[in-house]
Amino acid sequence: MRFKAQRGSRSFLPGTTTPTMGYNGDFLGPTIRVKNGQQFHADIENTLDEPTTVHWHGLHVPAKWDGGPRQVIPTGAHWKPEFTIRQPAATLWYHPHAMGLTGEQVYNGLAGLFIIDDEVSERLNIPKQYGRDDFPLIIQDRRFFQDGHFAYAQNMMDVMNGVIGNHLLVNGAEKPFLDVPREKVRFRVVNGSNSSIYRISFADERPFFQIATDGGLMEKPVTLTSLLLSAGERAEIIVDFADNNPAAGVTLLVKQFNGQLFEAMRFTSTGPAENQTDLPQDLAAINWLKESDAVRTRTFVMKTMGMDMGMMGGGGLTINGKHMDLKRIDETVKLGTTEIWEIRNSSDMMMGMPHSMHLHDVQFQILDRNGQTPEPREWGHKDTVLVMPGEVTRIIVRFADYTGIYMYHCHLLEHEDNGMMGQFEIIR
Ligand code: C2O
Ligand code: CU
Ligand code: CU
Repeated sequence: MRFKAQRGSRSFLPGTTTPTMGYNGDFLGPTIRVKNGQQFHADIENTLDEPTTVHWHGLHVPAKWDGGPRQVIPTGAHWKPEFTIRQPAATLWYHPHAMGLTGEQVYNGLAGLFIIDDEVSERLNIPKQYGRDDFPLIIQDRRFFQDGHFAYAQNMMDVMNGVIGNHLLVNGAEKPFLDVPREKVRFRVVNGSNSSIYRISFADERPFFQIATDGGLMEKPVTLTSLLLSAGERAEIIVDFADNNPAAGVTLLVKQFNGQLFEAMRFTSTGPAENQTDLPQDLAAINWLKESDAVRTRTFVMKTMGMDMGMMGGGGLTINGKHMDLKRIDETVKLGTTEIWEIRNSSDMMMGMPHSMHLHDVQFQILDRNGQTPEPREWGHKDTVLVMPGEVTRIIVRFADYTGIYMYHCHLLEHEDNGMMGQFEIIR
């Protein structure tokens, strides 16, 4: 596949034009679709006037093709990653990751979906006709200046709180409509926002079924009436529209952590009634990692210091007291071992910032939060996890197949860009 990171423009607000960035287009990028076991290659050209990278979020790939801040694509250059897909069916995504530029470039529109299929996802009787009963929902919020330009991070408050928008976009459009068949429909929901945590539901409070976490299908569907996704997290859900009112439709609601509520989009069903099928009760097998297999525990303290700590340039955002430094390896892990990573959010009471911890290369499992088993909606493969103020979340992770240097960081992109990131190296 050929990709071009490019500048463009789009009209989001009536009468204005917004300068944007996209892959092969003005905003967002094409959906990549591959099958487990398949070879993937791409030719990515950077036509921007600044460096970029393309990171495969959630993919298990050799370190040199990870697309993190170590794999810079200078202006005018091409990058040609090549790797084999070695993981189950999942909804993953790709986005830029250059040091200090991730937030701004994602905000401008650089992001796309990366879907993996496998025998299980193809065999299961679940909606899978892309564009008919299987749709991506990339949810992002934006702020604009009067002239239509994006109002990206303006000051230290934006860095500390993350840039939170007052316009809600789904797949790059504000309040879109979608006509869906009168049956079960699958949505691949991506929280592609820079720093927002979303609670997603339907205005009529209809229940729906979650079938996948970040890294793939769950063992069994989980019934929900709302879905909580922090920045960078994904979920696949099945919604039954058999009873959809053709005219009124169903409204998707998205609520930000600060309480702001958006009528994000509307689903109408103008077509005929369809055959109804039951959702399978057994989805995929998951190989659960055992605590007793872990060779050690590491602790990661995510800290947001107060405004008075001399933090221009993001001095207050650290993991284990350190800011990201490309020249420093923070953790060295041994290939083929399993570890427990204990993630502590010790932001002070005044700031009370949630964080969204993300690890490159691996899919992990959540052991517990403050000692409690996570809710069923998190029982599965995860690469990003919400850690609320004061919380301690323990994850278990196995480092397999590849050696090399990868990142871990807060997926609130303003936090990441301002130091809340570290590097781990997998060695033999
Ligand atoms: Cu989605 Cu290191 O990123
Ligand atoms: Cu990632
Ligand atoms: Cu954070």
